[in-house]
Amino acid sequence: MTHTASLKIDDKEYPLPVIVGTEGEKAVDTRTLRATAGYVAYDQGYGNTGSCESKVTFLNGDDGILRHRGYPIEQLANHSDFVETSYLVIYGELPTAAQRKEFGLRLRQNAVVETQMQKILEGFPTSASPMAMLSAMVAALPAYHPQLANNNFEKDLKVFDQAAAVAISKIRTMVAMIYRYQKGLPFMFPKQELPFCDNFLHMMFSEPYKDYVSVPEVTKALNLFLLLHADHEQNCSTSTVRMVASSSSNLFTSISAGISALAGPLHGGANAAVMHMLQSIHDEGDDGSRFIAAAKSGSKSNRLMGFGHAVYRNFDPRAKIIGQACGTLLSKLGIDDPLLNIAQHLEQAALKDDYFISRKLYPNVDFYSGIIMRAIGIPVNMFTTMFAIGRAPGYIANWHEVASNPKGRIYRPRQIYVGPVLRPYVPIDQRG
Ligand code: CMC
Repeated sequence: MTHTASLKIDDKEYPLPVIVGTEGEKAVDTRTLRATAGYVAYDQGYGNTGSCESKVTFLNGDDGILRHRGYPIEQLANHSDFVETSYLVIYGELPTAAQRKEFGLRLRQNAVVETQMQKILEGFPTSASPMAMLSAMVAALPAYHPQLANNNFEKDLKVFDQAAAVAISKIRTMVAMIYRYQKGLPFMFPKQELPFCDNFLHMMFSEPYKDYVSVPEVTKALNLFLLLHADHEQNCSTSTVRMVASSSSNLFTSISAGISALAGPLHGGANAAVMHMLQSIHDEGDDGSRFIAAAKSGSKSNRLMGFGHAVYRNFDPRAKIIGQACGTLLSKLGIDDPLLNIAQHLEQAALKDDYFISRKLYPNVDFYSGIIMRAIGIPVNMFTTMFAIGRAPGYIANWHEVASNPKGRIYRPRQIYVGPVLRPYVPIDQRG
């Protein structure tokens, strides 16, 4: 069925094209409205604006559906791993065995972060935010790989495979370096022979003369955690990556901006905020009702962290998967984490509460992910950097879409100006 749309303003009608996506999502194309009618579309925070066409991820928030390149997240979580899903997200297809091997090799060969970059870390107080450190290190990558960062789409696309591998592999190494820097521990070099997740765990937890011993359940849980974060459509940080990319910025600069956007507590920072919340419920011996009551006040700073989502009006499918994995990992490792019980009780209480029911607020991916990371041994202040490792493939795939779109234009939204109207300059001695 073809659709038509028109907008009637006063007595004049303006026909507008309708765009329909492959999953039936419909959009009214308002691009010409300013030229034809002198109007812009107003949509504060872009909550109902399709800012681009994308082939990477399909998300239906009403039905709780998430698919990467057509593959349901549940199937990827069951059968794939982070490296394979990264390939899928970036290149659009599941890799053949040869492609998987080549991609894995490229990641292994690009794991070492240049020794000089340690100085960037050393310029930070150890108390600094790990996300600030990570964003700064990624922003510095063009200086160390000028051939991969030309700020020229034609040139940058020719070296894309290498740049993508550098970004994914080094962001992981940087996170381990940040952790060790903050703890005053010597850096561990990556080991070429180790798979992606084990290599990360080695760089985090090996000690001089005492290598980290891989625990299959832990590796599996880490793989799942990263895979579940691989991409999530036009969220705040991915849109930031696209926006920065649209000025012809190179991949690393664009990702660095995305990492800064991810840091906020309403976005990637929520995973740490959830743990702080669960911990204070535990410390206070409360049953969580104080947090639920405060969340219902409507104040942004009192929200129930790990609950609600900008697009899901149903269960976040990632939360279901990670919630189950949490229980499995803890029981396999024999860990009795009181915070898991608190989280489960809080979820039950919120899901029975009218405030949350009427607003369709459900647990999101961050609600349980912290408990998995805690079991792996990741400290709370590093949680959001873990999200950044996971989200790297999504940033890369979205940067690629912007860079390879010959018709793309610089992102430049309009605004409705509501400030003072024209007024003459007042000299300082006449200001009252
Ligand atoms: N606790 C209490 N009330 C909430 C919450 C919450 N966590 N989330 C939304 N609301 C309220 C909101 O105040 C609004 O109330 P009212 O209709 O009375 O004004 C109503 O629910 C609808 O809000 P919304 O339009 O669904 O929310 P939004 O799109 O403005 O914000 C959000 C989405 C994720 C920022 C928000 O739900 C939130 O702050 N959640 C807590 C932080 C969090 O867990 N963030 C992680 C998101 S998932 C990982 C990621 O991709 O970033």
